[in-house]
Parts: sequence; C-alpha cells; structure tokens
Amino acid sequence: MQKILSLKNIEKNYGNKDYTTKVLKGIDLDIYANDFIAIMGPSGSGKTTLLNILSTIDKPTHGQLILNGQDLTHISNKVLSKIRRDQIGFIFQDYNLLDTMSLEDNIALPLSLNGVAAGKIREKVRELANLFGLTEHLKKYPYQLSGGQKQRGATCRALITDPEIIFADEPTGALDSKASRDLLERLKLVNERGQATILMVTHDAFSASYAKEVYILSDGRIQSRLTCGASRKDFYDRIIDMQASMGSDFA
Ligand SMILES: Nc1ncnc2c1ncn2[C@@H]1O[C@H](COP(=O)(O)OP(=O)(O)OP(=O)(O)O)[C@@H](O)[C@H]1O
Ligand SMILES: [Mg+2]
Repeated sequence: MQKILSLKNIEKNYGNKDYTTKVLKGIDLDIYANDFIAIMGPSGSGKTTLLNILSTIDKPTHGQLILNGQDLTHISNKVLSKIRRDQIGFIFQDYNLLDTMSLEDNIALPLSLNGVAAGKIREKVRELANLFGLTEHLKKYPYQLSGGQKQRGATCRALITDPEIIFADEPTGALDSKASRDLLERLKLVNERGQATILMVTHDAFSASYAKEVYILSDGRIQSRLTCGASRKDFYDRIIDMQASMGSDFA
C-alpha cells in the first residue's frame, strides 16, 4: 500500500524557556492509502494538537511530517496552503458551511475555487450527494437543513477534490446517535470503496468503532493500537474495555 503521510518523532511544546508544557513527546505514525484511523485519548492528551500538526495548520517543535514523500517540515506557508487546498479534506465538528450559499454551492466550493468546469462540478456534486443521501436537499440553504444533513454535506465538500487524506475532528460531536450512525456508515462505505483515506479524532467509542484502527493517545505518546476484527460490535466492546482499563480520566 502507498504511504500517504508519515510522522517521525513529532514533539510539540507550548510555553517558553521558563515554563514549557510538553504536549506531544515523540509520535511516530504512518498512514497508508485507504486507512481509516480513529485517534482517541483523554481530554488534554493532545488530540487536537496532533491533528493540527498532521493537517499542517500547526508546526511541530521537533520531528518531521512527510506527505507523499515530500518533507513538509520547512515549507513556506504559501506552499502549505496550496497543499491543504489540493490534497487535504477537512470535516469539522460544527460543519463550517457558508450560510449564504445553497448546499450544492457549498459542496462545489473547493472545485469552483480551483476553476473546474461547471458541468464537471455538477456531475461530481450529484454523485456525492447521492452517496450521502442529499439529492433532494441540494437547493436548500444550511438553515433549512438538520445537523446530520449539514455534516453529510460538509463531508461531500471534503471529498469533492479527491484529497489524499481527510481529517475529521469530532465529526459526530454535535450529532444525535441516529445522525451519527448515518454519517459514519457512509464514511465507512466510501472508505471501503477505496475513495477515502480518513483520520478521525473522537471521544466516542461508538464513532471510533467504525474505523479500521484505533490509536490511543495518552501522556504525549501513542500508547496502544487496536485493530478492528470481524465485527464492529466486537471492536466497540474492545474499545470500551480499553477505555475502562485506562481509568476515569478517559472522557
Ligand atoms: N496554544 C496553546 N498554548 C498553550 N497550551 C496549549 C495550547 N493548545 C493546547 N495547549 C495545551 O496542550 C494540551 C493538549 O491540548 P489539546 O487541545 O491538543 O487536547 P485534546 O486532546 O484535543 O483535548 P480535548 O479532548 O479536550 O479536545 C492541553 O493541556 C492544552 O492546555
Ligand atoms: Mg480537542
């Protein structure tokens, strides 16, 4: 399998010379094409910090980040923003749709900004909207949509450029259990069809059980890795057991 993203001995400190907080203490991580990884860990363990480094929004104190063989550690912000636009998809907890645009235009936005032909864009939007059960909602504005519909729309927007990797920070954090399940099943489907490599941060064992692998971040390091076996239900039970074994600080 093709290696998409590689982290080598990533450290992240906050603060100054007199008072330093070491949040990440040496993270090594390889992400391959078609992975679906969930990162879990107690509150304050550095999940968002790690995701921001992976997605090039933040820079590590030490260590290397390599995307498709290119070392991004010392690259200018201008080049990084182009890489983010072309090669990375984002799904946020609070959707980040633009209120003044229809769902269709929101989904199309990354391609419109890149100057892709209108006919081609329409075709891609239809295809994704169909996969995510949004066909009859395309003309609506975000205020006319449920949270689940908005998040499925935001997911289509993340997928529309065929990014190398999709980062999702608590994508089900604002959804009820039915809407969460609906989103996760469709994410799992596009992953199984070979259309997306996904890295998701979540508190929630139910969400994590849809991934193929779960990594536990604690005390600045990846402490354990669980791999999904034959059934999602069994995987869920193992994630719950692992959380219980880590004690009460695991939110
Ligand atoms: N800009 C910053 N300056 C100083 N400290 C920071 C900064 N950002 C994060 N931290 C600290 O780094 C640690 C990790 O924060 P982070 O947001 O990555 O945790 P998290 O695992 O995402 O937690 P949560 O589950 O609550 O979202 C925390 O102790 C936090 O206070
Ligand atoms: Mg966080």
